[in-house]
Amino acid sequence: MAIGEPRHAFPDWVARVLADNVQGFGQYPANDGTPGLQQTIADWIARRYGARVRAETQVLPLNGTREGLFNAMLALCPETKAGGRPAVLIPNPFYQTYAAAALAVGATPVFVPATEATGNLPDYTSVQPKVLNRVAVVYICSPANPQGAVADREYWAELLALAERHDFRIFADECYSEIYRNAPPPGAMQVAAECGADPDRVMIFHSLSKRSNLPGLRAGFAAGGVASIARMKQLRAYAGAPLPLPLQAVAEAAWRDEDHVTANRAFYAAKYALADRILGALPGYIPPAAGFFLWLPVEDGEAAALKLWRETGVRVLPGAYLAHGTGDQMPGADRIRVAMVAEHQDIQRGLLRLRDCLYR
Ligand SMILES: Cc1ncc(COP(=O)(O)O)c(C=O)c1O
Repeated sequence: MAIGEPRHAFPDWVARVLADNVQGFGQYPANDGTPGLQQTIADWIARRYGARVRAETQVLPLNGTREGLFNAMLALCPETKAGGRPAVLIPNPFYQTYAAAALAVGATPVFVPATEATGNLPDYTSVQPKVLNRVAVVYICSPANPQGAVADREYWAELLALAERHDFRIFADECYSEIYRNAPPPGAMQVAAECGADPDRVMIFHSLSKRSNLPGLRAGFAAGGVASIARMKQLRAYAGAPLPLPLQAVAEAAWRDEDHVTANRAFYAAKYALADRILGALPGYIPPAAGFFLWLPVEDGEAAALKLWRETGVRVLPGAYLAHGTGDQMPGADRIRVAMVAEHQDIQRGLLRLRDCLYR
């Protein structure tokens, strides 16, 4: 229960689509993705978010979101901002790629707490204006790993207004967007379209890893403004690796189909209910709105994870391993992250052992 690797079955037609397209391994794949995959992704964005993007110029298929989240920084972060080193805002705790990307381009990462006190999302409006003026890029993860929090329309609209005021880009990591409890989480591009924001302010990142249980396919996409996507394509042409054609065919089939996604969500709904039943009475328990992690309160996350592993064989991640800081300034030091990715029976056994070991 330590790693966020989905274990539910992927759709059974994947093998057939792969076999039907195996000849594609004999060709160099097009840098920008096949027209079929680009269009299918643009259609998916229109269905899911009501936002219109042009398939050829506003979509870039990725080898999973991770490479895109990193490479977007190489492609789009300016060398200076307001006369100095640019700053990059990162939620704390966070997905490590954000910090690695900021450091790789010589930007200064600025970690902004995303704790219970801030609704488990970073409050970027609280960052000092003189820092905001130096910000070139803001990373935001919604639904959030590890807290399971979801940015609502108001959050996105405020962030977009802040980006306009201080002239920065928003990199919205939405790879958990299709795993949710009740309503589909609103997306950055959806709200940007509703507000009439500049499309180049926002880049969204999506993945088939969680949505379709295909983490090994390495397939996702970035979508954003024409100028931003052009720069991402240019970087890929020199330094990147387009997806092999047979894998693009599988990705196209997966983005087109929602039945398997709905079925997958139902498995997670049963796990949310299980977690609420077993752990819901704990003070500080956050019922996750989305995603597949529990972010559980303990005294010391590292000590708790070690005790749990030694005494029960259940492995979870100490919250501090996802955060930056020291001492009291380390969000998540008093949490553990529990990945509910295994089959239902295993999750049930794991959560019961966890409760009995850490909370009784
Ligand atoms: C927050 C977050 N972003 C991005 C990724 C990368 O996912 P992938 O590269 O498989 O699309 C992960 C994977 O666990 C993640 O948790």
